[in-house]
Amino acid sequence: MSNQLVMRGPVGPLPLIPNQKKFNPINGYVGTIDSFVETARPVLPVYFLNPDQVAANARRFLTLFPGTPPYAVKCNPDPVVLKTMAKAGVQAFDAASIEEIRAVRKYAPKARILFMNPVKSREAIREAYYTHGVRAYSLDCVDELYKLLQETGLAPDLEVFVRIAIPKANATTLDLTGKFGIPAEDAPELLRQCRPVSAKLGLCFHVGSQCMKPERYAQAIRLAAQVIKASGVKVDALDVGGGFPVEYPNMTPPALDTYLENITHRNRLGDLALICEPGRAMVGNSGAVVARVEQRKGNMLYLNDGTYGNLFDAGPCGNLIYPTRLIRPGGEIAANQQTYGFAGPTCDSIDMMKGPFTLPVDVREGDWIVIEQLGPYCLSMGTRFNGFGQTQMVVMASEKEKAKAAR
Ligand SMILES: Cc1ncc(COP(=O)(O)O)c(C=O)c1O
Repeated sequence: MSNQLVMRGPVGPLPLIPNQKKFNPINGYVGTIDSFVETARPVLPVYFLNPDQVAANARRFLTLFPGTPPYAVKCNPDPVVLKTMAKAGVQAFDAASIEEIRAVRKYAPKARILFMNPVKSREAIREAYYTHGVRAYSLDCVDELYKLLQETGLAPDLEVFVRIAIPKANATTLDLTGKFGIPAEDAPELLRQCRPVSAKLGLCFHVGSQCMKPERYAQAIRLAAQVIKASGVKVDALDVGGGFPVEYPNMTPPALDTYLENITHRNRLGDLALICEPGRAMVGNSGAVVARVEQRKGNMLYLNDGTYGNLFDAGPCGNLIYPTRLIRPGGEIAANQQTYGFAGPTCDSIDMMKGPFTLPVDVREGDWIVIEQLGPYCLSMGTRFNGFGQTQMVVMASEKEKAKAAR
């Protein structure tokens, strides 16, 4: 008896794992995440996108921000997101690459585009300027200015944003210091070099993503003001970047108003045009992933999605903790909860997410887990590493579409 294998789990025929070519998005789904899982019993991860939520977030920024808030495409470049933003009134987009610029032109043809990657290829600059009408560019060194001038034929209508570095001591939850930004002491000279060849001149920075401390903006703006003063040249615009946070189980950020107060009321901006580039806060609560549990080993759940898939920011780079809940169609679920870590499907050991993620004590193979707050940096970060990474996309019906379907 002791040598006998005890088989647990489902018996009977199993569905085939879908092939990428047959994987079309499902648009205007009128049900809920739970009803989808109940009927589809998905073998692969499913991404649920809620366009109503995207539109609501966009309108909130458009209403509250006292300037222009171009949406940072990198955060979630899905066509539905871009189209929804444009429809909600977003008239400007911050792009990091020519691919993102092409996507904006396709889904929001009339939008203003800011090319805010401080290092760009010559080909990308040319196509951005001549094909897509992009006039605003960021840079953080004089060689990039020369590149911009050469590739645009000394264009007379450039809007140049000098990106200043944020001191390491002011880093936030997801640190963006170290890669881009000219040190404040060198920035005045670069501003002076840019001024004669810029139709409009701006300063920009990024305090880091998921910034939990509103005063970081006030500090960065004070630094920007010192740089402008030291430069002795006229600066037309200030771009305070992204970084506006969303709520996670272990992080409840101050209200957006407090951030805006730190940006405006606590600084004398004079007649500087104000810009911000929100990514995370524009899409935070508009996406969720459903992953399946393939194995449980103690407090570690092995899922069919992970760091190389839709859960990049839960992995070692971000260590974000997401809200989670269990779906077990037709089955009882224990009331008591405990915390777990997740492991993704690939064979790499960085494909692990320490959480802790809170779920019922009886999670088992074959259960589905809904992971929320995955609007940002999810779809855009996934890879096909180890042959995984396929995701079924489900675009939820808007309230309007639901009402129509109910008639
Ligand atoms: C230049 C730039 N702008 C905007 C953003 C968006 O930042 P967030 O998603 O934190 O709002 C980023 C993110 O990396 C960025 O690099």
